[in-house]
Amino acid sequence: MDRIEISKAGSFKGKFSPTPDKSISHRAVIFSSLSKGKSIIRNLLIAEDVISTINAFRALGVDISEVRSQRSEIPDLPTPNSELIINGKGLYGLKEPFDVIDCGNSGTTMRLLSGVLSGNSFFSVLTGDESLRKRPMGRVITPLRQMGADIVARGEDKYPPIAIKGKKLKPIKYTLPVASAQVKSAILLAGLYADGDTEIIEPVKSRDHTERMIPAFGAETKIDGLCVRIRGGIELKGTEVYIPGDFSSAAFFIIGALLIKNSDITIEGVGINPTRTGLINTLKEMGADIEIYNIKNLSGEPVADIRCKGGVELKAINVTKEQVPALIDEFPILCVAATQATGTTTIRGAEELRVKESDRIKSMATELRKMGAEIEEFEDGLSITGKGRLKGTVVESYKDHRIAMAMSIAALIGEGTTTIDGISSVNISFPGFFDISKRLTA
Ligand code: S3P
Repeated sequence: MDRIEISKAGSFKGKFSPTPDKSISHRAVIFSSLSKGKSIIRNLLIAEDVISTINAFRALGVDISEVRSQRSEIPDLPTPNSELIINGKGLYGLKEPFDVIDCGNSGTTMRLLSGVLSGNSFFSVLTGDESLRKRPMGRVITPLRQMGADIVARGEDKYPPIAIKGKKLKPIKYTLPVASAQVKSAILLAGLYADGDTEIIEPVKSRDHTERMIPAFGAETKIDGLCVRIRGGIELKGTEVYIPGDFSSAAFFIIGALLIKNSDITIEGVGINPTRTGLINTLKEMGADIEIYNIKNLSGEPVADIRCKGGVELKAINVTKEQVPALIDEFPILCVAATQATGTTTIRGAEELRVKESDRIKSMATELRKMGAEIEEFEDGLSITGKGRLKGTVVESYKDHRIAMAMSIAALIGEGTTTIDGISSVNISFPGFFDISKRLTA
């Protein structure tokens, strides 16, 4: 049965490393596949979303093999979970896929691949599961068409499946209507195929993993505030990349430790890229006890250990539109923290959450209310009044990995026992989530 029963916990204690970063893993597979020569990706996330990207590039003719647990030549790295060796084909070495490419649940796979395929002169079709087929794709289709790609999609070019006939692309200057790293990255990837400089201007800075990774593969980007520029026509060369732990996965346990009294956990090797760690600033503002130390730089990304203790009184805060991109994926678990903060926490300017793997505003409002939380829903966010006792009941995940994990942390602080339906969705980003949770719980 696709469900779990979780009872109230007394404490969260111990040390662990979270699974490798999902966003960075996708990008490492993409750039390695588009490079000439061999790349080694150490500590790659082997979870459903990244497997969708790996399978897509295999379908496009790239030779990808998995090797387990070899020591890195980079000194002082922990033994990685998993390694991938990719013999890249170069920008123009992909072959026309024989079938439709299934991106599963992964918006990152579909949007970033759209950028790549726009510059490849063959025919390809991208589809996904029921959730992905409802997610907006016009946001990538519009700029990629402006660059010259021939793209059509279902529902008047709004939703997957997407059919692409790549063309010789021209550079564009494009202002993103929404802060989206997926759209920015799709245009940057297409920009590799254009003659000249492609320029993207963001309304608020979104995660910058693509920009950070590109130089390691030999291409150029220039960053000037909210403007990113990429030079096209440069051949990529294979390299070695190390993937840090996923801050978004660590976030569930950071908040678990804060909310469960007598907790004290250490999370090792977590990516702390500032475009991802808005939650840390928000939690500190709420009064949380979080220590970040042992900071180092691995493959262009800052990485650290995080120690977090429970038992601190949290106070409510306001999260504004400008703060949302740096904590976009942490919204579900932040909602759980807000139920335990004194006062009313308000999160606004977060309408993007309505078009994630589920409508995350509605999913969290509905499920936390079932446990007794006081929540008001707005079109662009919600407000949660703490600090009320959560009570165990039956809740569901909407097949959304982050809702399943957030609700399982709510279950650890709820009175009695909570049943969570639809837990296999955690395999999208965090296989082993429930094992770690069990190990930390007393
Ligand atoms: C991602 C970007 C974000 C994020 C998603 C992963 C990425 O989506 O929510 O989980 O890897 O670029 P948007 O670009 O749609 O904001």
